[in-house]
Amino acid sequence: MSAKIIDGRHISEQLIEEMAQEVKERMAQGYKQPGLAVVLVGDDPASAIYVRNKIRSAEKAGMLSIVKRLDESCSQQALDDVVSELNERDDVHGILVQLPLPKHLSEERIINLIKPSKDVDGFHPMNAGLLSLGQATLIPCTPLGCLELLKREMGDISGKHAVVIGRSNIVGKPMARLLLLANCTVTVVHSKSVDPAKLCQQADILVAAVGVPELVTRDWVKSGAVVIDVGINAIEQEGKRKLVGDVNFNDVVDKCQAITPVPGGVGPMTIACLIKNTLIAATLSDN
Ligand code: GUN
Repeated sequence: MSAKIIDGRHISEQLIEEMAQEVKERMAQGYKQPGLAVVLVGDDPASAIYVRNKIRSAEKAGMLSIVKRLDESCSQQALDDVVSELNERDDVHGILVQLPLPKHLSEERIINLIKPSKDVDGFHPMNAGLLSLGQATLIPCTPLGCLELLKREMGDISGKHAVVIGRSNIVGKPMARLLLLANCTVTVVHSKSVDPAKLCQQADILVAAVGVPELVTRDWVKSGAVVIDVGINAIEQEGKRKLVGDVNFNDVVDKCQAITPVPGGVGPMTIACLIKNTLIAATLSDN
């Protein structure tokens, strides 16, 4: 089988252009420019790259972008103060605190502090709860991007067997909830699952979001499956640093109907969905 390689970069660029048009139209109607604030604590190089890309995309969409940088050693109070101030600003419609945070800071506390109406990550317990009930407006960006790719590739996914590998709050759990809302039969495979390969072999849709480089090999994949690889793992190969997914791409590619590459698959879609969430938050704020 010759698999379709899903070009997340191209789709993401298209979506951002469409949103730039919407932003223009909103502003022409007299609404405020949508604003996204990103908070970066410390100097983890991967986080710095992610934040730069998020800000660039917000600017491409014609949004106001604000970056708040805090020192690696900053106190919880200092971080809380930055988020509290952003919560009150009426030119900021979306707030994202880049994770992971340094060990001495509480991610749970900061996620709980962000106003749910500005929580463009969709991580606040209120937004997570609304997603479980099928009532969410702000949905975590990576699962939302994966769903967009699946719908573009497969159309109606109702009745398909979807297997999600990983149960994180950021990707695995919300992904499973979204697939269930789309009427898939959903299995979540995790570190305590018995015979994960056998469970994955049953998947029409396989979403790998576990953070283990190239875990998914040929024998895990059903012929004709659509494979979505959320992993971004930096590994050393032949003395060179390289990014690989949670799926061994070369091993499985000719067995799939379609597959996302790493990089250039899910990553750019996460950013497009962040911009989409910021636009939704701005629209709901009505200013
Ligand atoms: N770190 C890795 N992925 C994400 C994400 O989707 N949102 C935030 N805030 N941090 C992340």
